[in-house]
Amino acid sequence: MDKRITVLAGDGIGPEIIREAVKVLDRVAAVYGHSFDYTYVDIGGCSIDKYGVPITDEGMQTCLQADSVLLGAVGGPKWDNCPPQIRPEKALLAVRKTLGLFANLRPTKLFPQLAEASPLKASVIGGGIDLLIVRELTGGVYFGKRFTGEEDGEVAAHDDMTYRESEIRRIGRVAFETARLRRGKLASVDKANVLDTSRLWRRIMHELSEEYPDVAYSDILVDNTAMQLIRNPAQFDVIVTENMFGDILSDEASMLTGSIGMMPSASLSDGTLGMYEPIHGSAPDIAGMNIANPLGTILSAAMMLRYSFAMAKEADSIEQAVNTVLDEGYRTGDIWAEGTKKVLCSEMGSLVAGKIG
Ligand SMILES: NC(=O)c1ccc[n+]([C@@H]2O[C@H](COP(=O)([O-])OP(=O)(O)OC[C@H]3O[C@@H](n4cnc5c(N)ncnc54)[C@H](O)[C@@H]3O)[C@@H](O)[C@H]2O)c1
Repeated sequence: MDKRITVLAGDGIGPEIIREAVKVLDRVAAVYGHSFDYTYVDIGGCSIDKYGVPITDEGMQTCLQADSVLLGAVGGPKWDNCPPQIRPEKALLAVRKTLGLFANLRPTKLFPQLAEASPLKASVIGGGIDLLIVRELTGGVYFGKRFTGEEDGEVAAHDDMTYRESEIRRIGRVAFETARLRRGKLASVDKANVLDTSRLWRRIMHELSEEYPDVAYSDILVDNTAMQLIRNPAQFDVIVTENMFGDILSDEASMLTGSIGMMPSASLSDGTLGMYEPIHGSAPDIAGMNIANPLGTILSAAMMLRYSFAMAKEADSIEQAVNTVLDEGYRTGDIWAEGTKKVLCSEMGSLVAGKIG
């Protein structure tokens, strides 16, 4: 299969980790007889330096025309004082909006080899942590009307939170379909005891659950979810929730695995076009040192194969390769522990690529 991938390497460690993901994708292409064609587009600070904007219109068009987009990370201290309209992160919001990326999938998996890195006790980790948060990405309070002004003689601020039935239904479908591909369990997180948006959310999710009788569905309040993630994370398979709750819970969940460098993510649209990126930032403190952990980006590339290209066995082969490399004791600095073998970013990429096929 021929696929066009737009690569947004970005800033800081972005180019280093992307190089390793591309190395692994090239190996997959060679082993399974595919052809991946990469177009590199500047994004974030490097684009601001060259063009004065965090992504150009042509760059955006290249994303729209691709079969999928692979992103490293953007930002860094050099661009912290840019005016708000040209900050590096503006480009990410623009790409999400232009590509219609409404569903953010964040798996949280604790590799048993790295259990020591988790802040949770072994007795709490129990059967292991392997959950997926499906976060609505383009609605809710982050996209509502804002107001700051004088009200009743003092300054007040409002942020409107709106959800439409169609927005809830489409993210709900992604969650139910994803649960079907995993262990068939879905928890929908809301605050239906207080919020109207949550009551509508819950009603639509219940309607959808009747179409998916094979998925074990439950509702859970957001405050209880925050607690349960720490108390017994193994109880969760797929969690679906609205934008702000998902933002907070997915960061909480990511910490359960102990290393931000391991975590991939996918942002999906109505079609097959998606954007795939590690959840961490551009790590300016270690940029250019070839010591970053590329596994979050490599696992994001695996998600790209699974969700955008329907290449399940190829995705499995990357995940299996990561597992084998960890089993053999190879670690980048962030996950290194006594008795394991410390490797550079580029060595880690080569090790994973070498295990494919
Ligand atoms: N999606 C994105 O592009 C994205 C996301 C978050 C932050 N940012 C930006 O990144 C810049 C730095 O942000 P930050 O320092 O708050 O967060 P960060 O995730 O870049 O770094 C936090 C810490 O984790 C370490 N780290 C991160 N990724 C790692 C990896 N792959 N391997 C080893 N260690 C890793 C870093 O060295 C640092 O100590 C800021 O400009 C921020 O705005 C971008």
